[in-house]
Amino acid sequence: MDIRINLNRLKEDIESLSQIGRDPNGGITRPSFSRADLEAREWLKEKIKAVGLSLRQDGAGNIFGRTDGEGKTIMAGSHIDTVINGGMFDGSVGVLSALECLRRIKEEELEVSKPLEVAAFTDEEGNLVGDFLGSRAFLGQVKREILEKGITQFGTPFEKILEGTEFTYDTIMSAHEHRPDIEAFLEIHIEQGPVLETENKPIGIVDCIAGKNYRWCSFLGRTSHAGTTPLELRHDAFLGLADFALKSTQHVATKHYGNMVTVGKIDVMPGAFNIVPGQADFSFEFRSTSKETLEELEKYFLALAEDIASTRGLKFTSKILDKTDPVNTSPRIIDLIKEECQKLGYPSIVLPSGAGHDSQVIASIAEVGMIFIPSIDGISHSPLEQIKWEDLEKGANLLLQVIMRLAT
Ligand code: GLV
Ligand code: MN
Ligand code: MN
Repeated sequence: MDIRINLNRLKEDIESLSQIGRDPNGGITRPSFSRADLEAREWLKEKIKAVGLSLRQDGAGNIFGRTDGEGKTIMAGSHIDTVINGGMFDGSVGVLSALECLRRIKEEELEVSKPLEVAAFTDEEGNLVGDFLGSRAFLGQVKREILEKGITQFGTPFEKILEGTEFTYDTIMSAHEHRPDIEAFLEIHIEQGPVLETENKPIGIVDCIAGKNYRWCSFLGRTSHAGTTPLELRHDAFLGLADFALKSTQHVATKHYGNMVTVGKIDVMPGAFNIVPGQADFSFEFRSTSKETLEELEKYFLALAEDIASTRGLKFTSKILDKTDPVNTSPRIIDLIKEECQKLGYPSIVLPSGAGHDSQVIASIAEVGMIFIPSIDGISHSPLEQIKWEDLEKGANLLLQVIMRLAT
């Protein structure tokens, strides 16, 4: 079918959404339920209405736009929330490309036999209470105690973040829908890594999305005088953390290369120039496309932390914040994307995704397919996140063809 997306219009959409939530420290900070996110939601809802789709927002803040009709549905989308100081493409590309595809299909009055739906899921980035709050709530995979007890990135209770919005724990729990009609979910996303650029390919076809285990951990020691406490008598919590961060990274680099481990946020207390730190709290996450590797790493890291604690006279505690399994995308959709790439003359490779995506959640009820376009210098979760617009044009055209194949 010879139909193409309108790149200028898609570019304009991405650029205008990127104006919402500009961070004075650089990039875009638009976590779900923030003032910027509420503004972005209104912007997106107007766009969906202008396309002539029926608009719906559920109790978790997921936004949907749907064509008329009942029965097996082809859904496409992603998220519009961002990380702190993030870029303008992570998530937005998926939602706005899907919207552009539906807009083109409606403009051309193309015949499709299945309803089409665009989705923007809440808090994909996990800034609040674990990753994928919106898509998980949509599928009934959120436990209420996670909402009540979860630690947000901002140190603010989740309840406080919801204040002044139309959302509550009750509305979030009410977002659960029974949707056996969703036949397939498609997500186009920036790669967020360097593989496509290195391989000089404009398109990546994702076969597997990595699982992740993430925790909030502490080494507890004893504060003491920095001028008088001999090194061997210290119970320095920061050194426990430093030792752990280095040894865990070294272990992955030497024994499990290709998998990921990150200490991303640290709080050292009391945090004074002249006091040996008595407490070091930190986030710790590791990822793999193999469930067995995740399980092996979990055991190894917990034993390593205990060992470091006992050597250094510290106590180690850790609380699991979230755990996801690796997920395979649909082989049928992979084949279909490959075929459409060939027809369009777009070079492609099949690759795994190290980053998490709503697709991995939706995979529990529907076939999912993911298209990657290159990230310049492999950079993402950064204000420096960039793409080549011609790559987006290819990716969005491919998405359009795949939607048409699945829906006709
Ligand atoms: C989400 O972007 C993640 O951290 O994988
Ligand atoms: Mn994303
Ligand atoms: Mn992200």
